Amino acid sequence: MGYVKLGVNIDHVATLRQARGEKNPDTVEAARVVYSSGGDMVVMHLRQDRRHIQDSDLERVRHDVKGLIHLEMAATSEMEKIALIVRPDSVCLVPEGPRELTTQGGMKLDKKNPELEKIIKKLSGAGMEVSVFTDPDPKAIRAAHNMGADSIELCTKKYAESWGKKLQADELEQLQLAGHLVKELKMELHAGHGLDYYNVAPVARIEGMDCLNIGFSIISRGMFVGLKTAVSEMKRLIQ
Ligand code: PXP
Repeated sequence: MGYVKLGVNIDHVATLRQARGEKNPDTVEAARVVYSSGGDMVVMHLRQDRRHIQDSDLERVRHDVKGLIHLEMAATSEMEKIALIVRPDSVCLVPEGPRELTTQGGMKLDKKNPELEKIIKKLSGAGMEVSVFTDPDPKAIRAAHNMGADSIELCTKKYAESWGKKLQADELEQLQLAGHLVKELKMELHAGHGLDYYNVAPVARIEGMDCLNIGFSIISRGMFVGLKTAVSEMKRLIQ
């Protein structure tokens, strides 16, 4: 197994801050802890409703902290503009529905999508590594590849929800098969959503896995053991 990078999603540090509309907990401080505890990237999801991460979080982390930034964003022209200004090192294009509590699955890519292709090419041309969040679905993976994406982030939501149930082995197999296809297409392989300290190891061990993006479980555990310990424990589990 090669080195698996850990992207730590700090959205829910901002969720807590937004609850009081004050300055703490500060995402810049969180980003510093992530990098100093073995996190390879800080991940932020700038949602269209701005319910947690704000534009200023992105700008401040980019400006005040040294380290890789991965931006999760809807494939809209508003988000494209922001990415071109803030210049994260990489982006992941994610579907976003109104009133959802969190992302509900990967991009449905079964027909031509010239708008998406345009955004992929624009961001990639500006030097960002572009990934597309897909379910472990060969059609979607091939479509993202044909549109010029560099990486696929496989949605692990169904796998995470099947933990401890009969379906779990099937969901893991789907991810393994999809991972195989991603590597065959010579793309980077990422995965994320719903991964935690119990279910992460089998996903980290998928052949060719390059990076896992994990947020909620790490920030939640950080409440009790501290963010530094929560990040380094996760890092140890995925190696
Ligand atoms: N990857 C993507 C594309 C996401 O949308 C999210 C949630 O914002 C995550 C990873 C992290 O998911 P979780 O918070 O469940 O670890």
